Amino acid sequence: MTNKLAIDGGKPLRNKPLPPRSLITEAEKTAAIAVFDEAISSGNAFGYDGKHEQAYDQAFAKFMGGGFADGVNSGTNAVFVALGALQLDAFSEVIVPPISDPGGVMPVCMLGCLPVMADACHDSFNTSAEQIEQVITERTGAILVAHIAGEPVDMDPVMALAAKHNLPVVEDCAQVHGALYKGKPVGTMGDIAAFSTMNGKHHCTGSQGGVVFTTNEQLHWEAKRFADRGKPTNLEGQTFNVRAGLNCNSNDLSAAIGLVQLQRLPEIIEKRRHIGETIKAEVARNCKAISMGWQVEQTHPVYWFMRFKLDLDAISVDKATFCKALLAEGIPAGESYRHIPCEMPWFKNKSVFGQSGFPWSCSEYKGPKEPEFDMTNVIKATDEHFILYTHENYDQEVLEDIIKVFVKVEKVYLN
Ligand SMILES: Cc1ncc(COP(=O)(O)O)c(C=O)c1O
Repeated sequence: MTNKLAIDGGKPLRNKPLPPRSLITEAEKTAAIAVFDEAISSGNAFGYDGKHEQAYDQAFAKFMGGGFADGVNSGTNAVFVALGALQLDAFSEVIVPPISDPGGVMPVCMLGCLPVMADACHDSFNTSAEQIEQVITERTGAILVAHIAGEPVDMDPVMALAAKHNLPVVEDCAQVHGALYKGKPVGTMGDIAAFSTMNGKHHCTGSQGGVVFTTNEQLHWEAKRFADRGKPTNLEGQTFNVRAGLNCNSNDLSAAIGLVQLQRLPEIIEKRRHIGETIKAEVARNCKAISMGWQVEQTHPVYWFMRFKLDLDAISVDKATFCKALLAEGIPAGESYRHIPCEMPWFKNKSVFGQSGFPWSCSEYKGPKEPEFDMTNVIKATDEHFILYTHENYDQEVLEDIIKVFVKVEKVYLN
């Protein structure tokens, strides 16, 4: 019987592997070799903040529609530097996303501040102004939002809330390069933004990297100083380091690679957008138990992965079995993206500064020593969604196979 699922011994719908991303091309290799050639002929090893990095920073700022960019050495450090640029006092609470990579939250603790988790808004992996408002206290120093999966947060209400409470907003754009919210590039609405440019992202600078972007020149210089051990960059009359920071610098080799990548980024964004929109439309047209779930209106996501809501009442198996069946058909669906920071051991055990329990345990901190967060919406959302990583090299055949697999598996399991 042709409809027999592969998980039950049938023939998988897709036998071929999915196409690779092929993100690095001869052009990146040529750019990297040119940096080596310069180093060999000059006798000086390539460094940082040289002509390649400056060109990359300018090109990145141009990509964002104007502003100031500073390449750093990871997305984690981009968040660290963006927060550091705000010069928050120790023990400030920073409102953090309900779902994020640990690298999007840990920097809060490394700055001696306290991460306070806002829940997701209904049916989403992202937070919203409504959830953020519930956790604002007199100790709140900043709001950090992450645009998870390439889907923009509903930023207008977040910015209105931040203005009401006079709080700066950091946008974590690690998963969302090139997305638009009401026509505006994501990363330009908050006070400062952090991008990851590690190899798995829409745009990369080699293996690891990140960018701190802002339209505020003062914040930009503050970020640049903080990213380079507090060197007095752009400060008159200062010779020595003006504040404590780490060395989060990018380097000229990564920047040269990134510069080539930036030229291809608009095309990558367009392709990813097309792939996402096609899958979304076909799911709406063909599927009964699978849907895209709720999304913020007037946004153009650039999916890093896609989340699909599974109507568990409509099918006869649990989500794990359903995803195993998709996988057996040749489509690598992930059962979950349950990256909820407060569920992780480092957070639960307060493993930040040895056994001290700092910063929560410190008497200077007047907030809850054993924080508990209402994560009802995000747990429900992660329970009800499965995910699928997509990328710009998925061709029409892959898109069709994804939908055929969804339909095939659904058909067998629909009640
Ligand atoms: C939302 C978010 N923030 C921060 C990071 C950390 O970036 P990196 O891995 O480049 O340090 C990631 C990485 O995936 C991320 O997805």
